[in-house]
Amino acid sequence: GKSGYEHYTLKEIHEQPRAVRQCLRGRPQPFEGSISIEELEDVPRPTEVQFAACGTSYHASLYAARLFRERGVRATAFLASEYDAAAVPIDEGTLVVGVTQSGETADTLRALRTANAVGARTLAVTNVVGSSAARETDRAMYVRAGPEIGVAATKTFTSQQVALAMLSSALTDDRSGEFVAALRALPDRIQSILDDSRAREIAAEYVGSDAYFFVGRGLAHPVALEGALKTKELTYEHAEGFAAGELKHGPLALVTPETPVIALVSGRANTERMLGTITEVRARGAPVVAVTDDPESVERRVDRVLRVPETHRRFFPILANVQLQLLAYWVANGLGRSIDKPRNLAKSVTVE
Ligand code: M6R
Repeated sequence: GKSGYEHYTLKEIHEQPRAVRQCLRGRPQPFEGSISIEELEDVPRPTEVQFAACGTSYHASLYAARLFRERGVRATAFLASEYDAAAVPIDEGTLVVGVTQSGETADTLRALRTANAVGARTLAVTNVVGSSAARETDRAMYVRAGPEIGVAATKTFTSQQVALAMLSSALTDDRSGEFVAALRALPDRIQSILDDSRAREIAAEYVGSDAYFFVGRGLAHPVALEGALKTKELTYEHAEGFAAGELKHGPLALVTPETPVIALVSGRANTERMLGTITEVRARGAPVVAVTDDPESVERRVDRVLRVPETHRRFFPILANVQLQLLAYWVANGLGRSIDKPRNLAKSVTVE
């Protein structure tokens, strides 16, 4: 049942500390500062990683590809429906990773099949044990988020990000006590967001807007895209995610006092450059909601703040996304939408 929550989606958002704990179980090695993934023990280290995924899983893949690149491994995320293994160069060091919660998404399975056909090594990162993706690849890594009933991916996305962050560390033999400690602290950090979030009251202020724009840079860019997708699915309203630096190359024409801009501002990485973007949109009258771990630096420059606890630089997007989920949920709730089963959508898309 919904354990007292009005919707499964809200229940699943609140289940995230547990989902992440399950995803982590046994994998971080605090004494070595390393990650061990049982399913992947003797997997050779890739020299290149290609991800193929759809929707929310594609956003997790964009995040993961960036983590691999930061650790010196060439990595690209492809939309599975656009992935053409025959047209993408593959060599013996290439690993093709299908990221799919359900393990049954037709576009992703097709991408994995073409990768198998050209002789690439393949891996599925999936939440469903024994799913088609798990069966049709050389190896499967399980996300272990538990079953998700809401059509919109919430706890499975958070857990995918955690699983992929671990994958990027394990397959590059990275060792960092700081990274491992921050990973293990994630469930508590997420819990503290769930306990104190002001997303509900901020959603009430901005419900009925013409559109919602999400902006982020670097590692937070995929989460800007995800915040917009979640808002579209749950609220049926116009929402877009942008790389902050791209706004001035066109999207700025859409910005008005009726279009709140939700800005992901991570103090450690990019407060100064994000403040530039914030100034640009405020000059057009748009209200700005900052999702940030650095409230002191942004407070006076924005209209509202959704704070997230400090964490390792690489995990800011994971925490910020929890606030975006809550914001989308409460806007949709205010509009009386069919939150657990949005119109026109299915949980698992088994046609191409
Ligand atoms: O099961 P998958 O992860 O392969 O599903 C991929 C997409 O269909 C899925 O993420 C979709 O975008 C969700 N409705 C997002 O909330």
